[in-house]
Amino acid sequence: MNKYLISVALIALFGVWSCSSDDTEIVENTNNETKLGLIDSDVQKNNDDLAGMPTYSDSVPGTSLRVERAFENAPPMIPHSVEGLVPITMTINTCTSCHLPEVAIAMESTAMPESHFTNYRPEVKLGDGTYDIATNKDVTQQSLQGKLNMARYNCTQCHVTQANVDLAIENTFKAVYRKSDLNNKSNLSDNITEGVR
Ligand code: HEC
Ligand code: HEC
Repeated sequence: MNKYLISVALIALFGVWSCSSDDTEIVENTNNETKLGLIDSDVQKNNDDLAGMPTYSDSVPGTSLRVERAFENAPPMIPHSVEGLVPITMTINTCTSCHLPEVAIAMESTAMPESHFTNYRPEVKLGDGTYDIATNKDVTQQSLQGKLNMARYNCTQCHVTQANVDLAIENTFKAVYRKSDLNNKSNLSDNITEGVR
């Protein structure tokens, strides 16, 4: 018997042993591979042809209605269309042209909050081959004097557009705000030290 046949026989034997030693029943996936997930459509079709694909808001900025915050100090959702505004790069960011505090009133948008112009990362210094936190403060909160913290340049990492969808599972979460106006504004930079001794 040549080496090839011996290996095939061993693999087959191992296969039989591994199946029989496993108590869990292997349920065959009966889904057709072109129909996966919750969308009742052929996944190989173009996006535009997919039935049940969500439709995103097509209201241009300035014509949409703000959405209530999902919970206190949650990143607000983007109520307007972002067509032509993404992708966001380190050097090209149209969001800031309307949301920087100095232009927000004129643009009738919402000003980016103080937290986006603050560095919360403690400074680290290289010690004996390890990094040490060079501060004894519980929370680092260093104002960047109005300069955007570039850890936040990618707005859509946290702020997302809204789409009309039929929820497969209804969300029953009810937000509770400690002050009634916190359903449509942020105050994270004022209370970030809350609970820190
Ligand atoms: C041309 C100006 C303009 C641009 C560009 C723009 N926005 Fe807006 N944005 C607005 C205005 C105005 C509103 C208020 C709602 C409205 O009037 O449509 C708003 C609302 C929002 C809100 C909701 C704020 C709240 O208080 O609930 C978020 C979040 C937001 N925009 C994020 C973004 C992001 C992220 C981008 C970039 C992808 C962006 N915006 C680009 C003008 C703009
Ligand atoms: C790492 C997540 C993150 C990123 C990235 C981020 N944000 Fe936010 N944003 C938040 C959170 C959380 C809040 C609400 C709490 C707070 O910080 O005050 C917020 C609040 C806001 C608000 C509402 C302010 C108010 O007073 O109600 C605006 C407008 C906003 N962000 C715009 C932006 C824009 C524009 C960018 C991109 C330059 C951006 N954000 C990037 C997390 C983020």
